[in-house]
Amino acid sequence: MCSIILCLCAKHTRTPKQLKDELGEVVAEMEAMEGGGLATDESKPSNKAKQTSIGRKKFNMDPKKGIEYLIEHNLLVSTPEDVAQFLYKGEGLNKTAIGDYLGERHDFNERVLRAFVELHDFTDLILVQALRQFLWSFRLPGEAQKIDRMMECFAQRYCQLNPNIFTNTDTCYVLSFAIIMLNTSLHNPSVKDKPSVEQFISMNRGINNGGDLPRELLVSLYESIKTEPFKIPEDDGNDLMHTFFNPDKEGWLWKQAGGRYKSWKRRWFILNDNCLYYFEYTTDKEPRGIIPLENIQVREVQDRHKPHCFELYAAGSEFIKACKTDSEGKVVEGKHTVYRMSAATDEEKDEWIKCVRQSISHNPFYDMLAARKKKAQKTNVHSKS
Ligand SMILES: *[C@@H]1O[C@H](CO)[C@@H](O)[C@H](O)[C@H]1NC(C)=O
Ligand SMILES: *[C@@H]1O[C@H](CO)[C@@H](O)[C@H](O)[C@H]1NC(C)=O
Repeated sequence: MCSIILCLCAKHTRTPKQLKDELGEVVAEMEAMEGGGLATDESKPSNKAKQTSIGRKKFNMDPKKGIEYLIEHNLLVSTPEDVAQFLYKGEGLNKTAIGDYLGERHDFNERVLRAFVELHDFTDLILVQALRQFLWSFRLPGEAQKIDRMMECFAQRYCQLNPNIFTNTDTCYVLSFAIIMLNTSLHNPSVKDKPSVEQFISMNRGINNGGDLPRELLVSLYESIKTEPFKIPEDDGNDLMHTFFNPDKEGWLWKQAGGRYKSWKRRWFILNDNCLYYFEYTTDKEPRGIIPLENIQVREVQDRHKPHCFELYAAGSEFIKACKTDSEGKVVEGKHTVYRMSAATDEEKDEWIKCVRQSISHNPFYDMLAARKKKAQKTNVHSKS
């Protein structure tokens, strides 16, 4: 034991993360050795079980290392099929770690992903049930490209096993996302707009090679999600939400006027759909001003008169494109070079900055999905004749 600890101390070049991982490995090995003494006899079956247990623990801390360990100890064969089988069984494995491993952009991992998806049998399952099974077998990582790769594999597999439902895999892919987003819209309390079945149907117009999917199919998908939300492993209720939806936020802020006097006015702000609206009263129907968040940046600032300040500024041009109603109620263009706001607390300020940033940072996911949808909506050359 001492030698392990000495060795940990001898090198000073490790990052805290590496150190933490190595310590974790030592702990896993020590735990596995407990009670069994320091047996080294490789042929003992109990030893094999211990090594498997160490391998799983290593996998949960660092999937790549865990797989390497199991292969080194002849507990796993180094083929995509064998590794996929191990992940699919998933005994003692953390589903976040499985998702991380499957999402890795590396030739071997991508082959494991395909083999893993092939272990699922979706024959004769309605799409929503197939998705339930698939999304329960690992935790979808938060990154758009990884989600894209995984859902592409899923759609191919589903269409291969159920050849007569969709005209192409893009349709299956797009509809799968429509279902995942419907789940969030219907069941997440912070989404206020709950789509009706008719809205769900019209959102999916033309995605079957330019044609519509059967109404009964869409209704049954909707009903299934409505009665039973999707369960995902290690659910913190937020991750996918942040991947798919831009944040909304509202609250009181002090806003500095743009004119000569720079006076401060208290306004009710609403961040929605990539726009910032402000109102005089929370009950007002018409905003006093609208600031589209295109080409806008946000930064923290110090102000002599107000605490917890941040400001919006234009990236590239001098003025921020915005509009407001003037004293006579006419809509006029705003003349701000910056919009300076003051929040009630430091936490509120940080939260506003975070939400505005998230809202203006391009959501790569929307583009990806939009491109797919376009493909699925285009009548393809073969089916025209
Ligand atoms: C799985 O790993 C994730 C990320 O490391 C962690 O947040 C989660 O608590 C783990 N789950 C279990 C059941 O240990
Ligand atoms: C479905 O919605 C519930 C409630 O918001 C959420 O906990 C779950 O993660 C969602 N499932 C998916 C696949 O997004």
